[in-house]
Amino acid sequence: MFWVFVFSSFLVIANVNGVYGRDSRIVGGVDATLGRWPWQGSIRFISTGTNFCGCSVISNRWLISAAHCTEGIRSASSIEVRLGVTNLLAGEATDVTYRLTSFHDHPDYVSSTFLNDITLLQTSLPITFNANVRAVALPSPGMIAIVGSPCWITGWGTTADSSSVSPNILQQAVVPIVNDSQCVAWYRQEGIMVFTNEQFCAGYEAGNIDSCQGDSGGPLTCNDTGIFVLQGITSYGVGCALSRRPGVYTRVSNYLTWINETIVLYSNSVGQKCTSSLRAILFSSFFFLILHKLTTF
Ligand SMILES: *[C@@H]1O[C@H](CO)[C@@H](O)[C@H](O)[C@H]1NC(C)=O
Ligand SMILES: *[C@@H]1O[C@H](CO)[C@@H](O)[C@H](O)[C@H]1NC(C)=O
Ligand SMILES: *[C@@H]1O[C@H](CO)[C@@H](O)[C@H](O)[C@H]1NC(C)=O
Repeated sequence: MFWVFVFSSFLVIANVNGVYGRDSRIVGGVDATLGRWPWQGSIRFISTGTNFCGCSVISNRWLISAAHCTEGIRSASSIEVRLGVTNLLAGEATDVTYRLTSFHDHPDYVSSTFLNDITLLQTSLPITFNANVRAVALPSPGMIAIVGSPCWITGWGTTADSSSVSPNILQQAVVPIVNDSQCVAWYRQEGIMVFTNEQFCAGYEAGNIDSCQGDSGGPLTCNDTGIFVLQGITSYGVGCALSRRPGVYTRVSNYLTWINETIVLYSNSVGQKCTSSLRAILFSSFFFLILHKLTTF
């Protein structure tokens, strides 16, 4: 009876406008101070100005988030990203909004399982870095989140399960990385498969501290000898902060090649022009060959 309720409420959340799972705020966190998480961004609809997901700055043109955040969105021009801010209501001196030219969901994203729940967003203008706006480090190849190590989640998502109230101030909380087989076993009780190459879990057996709706797409960073490394992207969970239902995060270290390739592919407009003119040359030579053949026949 209980699991049916939890699972069905999960499904309901998971189907709202393609923006689901954890689209609202950190449970059990505390207010963050400005500049502590300078890579944290808020993705909002231009039409309503409402924060619906988090994201992280990874370079001066690129942000990373969850594919389920952008899944239902037709055009990058309907959303924008706010950086350098902790208080969404009042704003701060470094509060700045960037428009986007495009977003690129992982081609193998599966909405029913949140597999490959990762997307890259490109800003129209280069992001200006300052004390409160800066890129987060990505893991180096082979560097994985270590079980038990304390990592931080941040976001403006709802502060209680089933709550519709979101905080104005960015929330932060510490969550330990959960052993993969333990997490797989807990989620199997819900009939949910956790894919350990692509996902990992973080949280407490007792619950109480977790990411929640609205935190989706935001960072899980781990302090690696003084440098915060983006190990996870907030993806989904059953409820929020429930016992033995830790948050599930996209495992960033599994996507370094895809991130690199996607950025290289879409960053260089000169490169794209070269490619299309090359295609034009190949195409016209193909026609030339056909014509040549035709005329010689
Ligand atoms: C993970 O948890 C399982 C039991 O759930 C245990 O057998 C295993 O040793 C744990 N692995 C690590 C690396 O802690
Ligand atoms: C990060 O970890 C280092 C030790 O590796 C510690 O000295 C430092 O205070 C930590 N920084 C934060 C902000 O937690
Ligand atoms: C990303 O691609 C560049 C070349 O385009 C390469 O030099 C670099 O090592 C790559 N990094 C990773 C993490 O794959």
